[in-house]
Amino acid sequence: MYNNITVETNERITTITINRPDKMNALNKGVMDELDEAIIAFKTNPEAGAAIITGSGSKAFVAGADIAEFTGLSVQEGKALAQRGQDIFSAIENSPKPIIAAVNGFALGGGCELAMSCHFRVASSNAKFGQPEVNLGLIPGYGGTQRLTQLIGKGRAIELLITGNMIDAATALQYGLVNHVTEPDALLNKCREILHIVLSKAPLAVAKCIEAANTAYESDGAGFVKEMDGFGFCFGTEDMKEGAGAFLEKRKAVFTGK
Ligand code: COA
Repeated sequence: MYNNITVETNERITTITINRPDKMNALNKGVMDELDEAIIAFKTNPEAGAAIITGSGSKAFVAGADIAEFTGLSVQEGKALAQRGQDIFSAIENSPKPIIAAVNGFALGGGCELAMSCHFRVASSNAKFGQPEVNLGLIPGYGGTQRLTQLIGKGRAIELLITGNMIDAATALQYGLVNHVTEPDALLNKCREILHIVLSKAPLAVAKCIEAANTAYESDGAGFVKEMDGFGFCFGTEDMKEGAGAFLEKRKAVFTGK
């Protein structure tokens, strides 16, 4: 039924696994379309009370949006791409049933944004987090500038956004970006253990907790629109073409500020 993800439901927990391990589980259009479908199916599945999102293989959760799909996009197309990503990740964040991220390796760019759209995160000890878009002459577009700031505070968020640096699992724990760190083999069991506790509680009360907690950060959404505009804008710059082109050609980017 799916080509880019796998979905299975056991003991009321749906596990959605992004399944492009040869491309570090990068989020191409196929993954995003199927993730969208899988989230809708999970929300309406009476057999499922909670979900885990993870990546296949041992190296990556998700290493970002698929950079190969960035080439040749216009400003408007860049903005539309951000809109699509933000809509899918908002659907995750606003799910009345809990969805948690089991971060099993690199969570970069759109991968970090996907993990942050989940209700909370558990990481394996080899996980690495970052928003390296600035290396590509770009900014995050799937909610990263907003959710990273909400989760770890403005100073730390801006440092990560403008350096493109990665942080390891221990630092992510210290920053409050993840709730727990486990050995890689123990990651999914730890997630299931927590979700079984949640599943023993009243589902409507759980849903209301999530809704109320999400409302704590609600504003007029201006930050997300600003991000979408900024992401689209980058597609009109020389530096973004250079940055994405250099990654795909496996060379170092040379930026000119144009
Ligand atoms: N988009 C498209 N392809 C990607 C990708 C992405 N975000 N991340 C990794 N890949 C691909 C690589 O191009 C490579 O493909 P190939 O084998 O066909 O050449 C494959 O996945 C393996 O990645 P590679 O870079 O060889 O692995 P590594 O272990 O040396 O490095 C990373 C791992 C995650 C550090 C590195 O892949 C990386 O920096 N990825 C991009 C991260 C990024 O900028 N994300 C934000 C995007 S907006």
